[in-house]
Amino acid sequence: PSETGRVLSIQSHTVQGYVGNKSAVFPLQLLGYDVDPIMSVQFSNHTGKLLRYPTFKGQVLNGKQLWELIEGLEANNLLYYTHLLTGYIGSVSFLDTVLEVVSKLRSINPTLTYVCDPVLGDEGKLYVPQELVSVYREKVVPVASMLTPNQFEAEQLTGFRIASEQDGREACRHLHAAGPSKVVITSICIDGTLLLIGSHEKEKGQSPVQFKIVIPKIPAYFTGTGDLMTALLLGWSNKYPNNLEKAAELAVSSLQAVLSRTLKDYEKAGYDPQTSSLEIRLIQSQDDIRDPEITYNAHIY
Ligand code: ATP
Ligand code: PLP
Ligand code: MG
Ligand code: NA
Ligand code: MG
Repeated sequence: PSETGRVLSIQSHTVQGYVGNKSAVFPLQLLGYDVDPIMSVQFSNHTGKLLRYPTFKGQVLNGKQLWELIEGLEANNLLYYTHLLTGYIGSVSFLDTVLEVVSKLRSINPTLTYVCDPVLGDEGKLYVPQELVSVYREKVVPVASMLTPNQFEAEQLTGFRIASEQDGREACRHLHAAGPSKVVITSICIDGTLLLIGSHEKEKGQSPVQFKIVIPKIPAYFTGTGDLMTALLLGWSNKYPNNLEKAAELAVSSLQAVLSRTLKDYEKAGYDPQTSSLEIRLIQSQDDIRDPEITYNAHIY
């Protein structure tokens, strides 16, 4: 397979370190995509969630400024994209503008694939304003082609509690009914093990092909991994449009190779990965991104 595309990626930028567009653009380029990044924020460093840097400084793009960029592209006939990718979005006005961007891009390319990472929170906590949840649920999920929530986000979007594989599969079916034909719950933590659950509704209304990938949990806390995961899923699922399980195997195998290298390099440098804020070793892992060896297998239900 050699199918690639043009991706508009609206995500955070950090000057130092790898989250948001900093962890999505390079991997997609390595996989052969043209990627046009819009920086939804520009911060000195990531804002973390558990292990943070002491501070951060920077600027936030608002909805009006996002729309100006879109108008500039449109005025020059530069708005043809095969994919839109969005991650962390901090306000309702910005998210409403993203919805306008989806409509605009679809008016130019009706087959645009919108890959949405509905970033709301993690480990039981919201890290966006509460009002965003209903906007995602009511307006964003219905227009998304592929959705990559974590366990907490899938719960927020469906209203179900997810405590088992069965619950995860049911949440995916619920999300398909609301819109996206591909759903990947990127991690569900069950008894200390991570499970990825993927679901592809190949025909509207038919029962989806569902699978899981078991991922041993590394005792360390990484940032930027959710953003990297969604980018890799976009990249590989476009190359294998009818084989989401293969795309997920490739994405997980790449990501785990990045995390192993990150852990090894920090340990070598004398850091304790359990108490340090780690930056993923993305650039050093380019071979594992371009040409991953499948080390994690999907199990179809
Ligand atoms: P969000 O970006 O919304 O937080 P998320 O919670 O799914 O999404 P992560 O928790 O970073 O993002 O997980 C994304 C992927 O990264 C998981 O599917 C898993 O493969 C990998 N991952 C993250 N942390 C670990 C870890 N400690 N051990 C093993 N894999 C991990
Ligand atoms: N900090 C900033 C500024 C971010 O934008 C993000 C995600 O986009 C993160 C931290 C955390 O990234 P992740 O959820 O992929 O670990
Ligand atoms: Mg997480
Ligand atoms: Na996710
Ligand atoms: Mg994320």
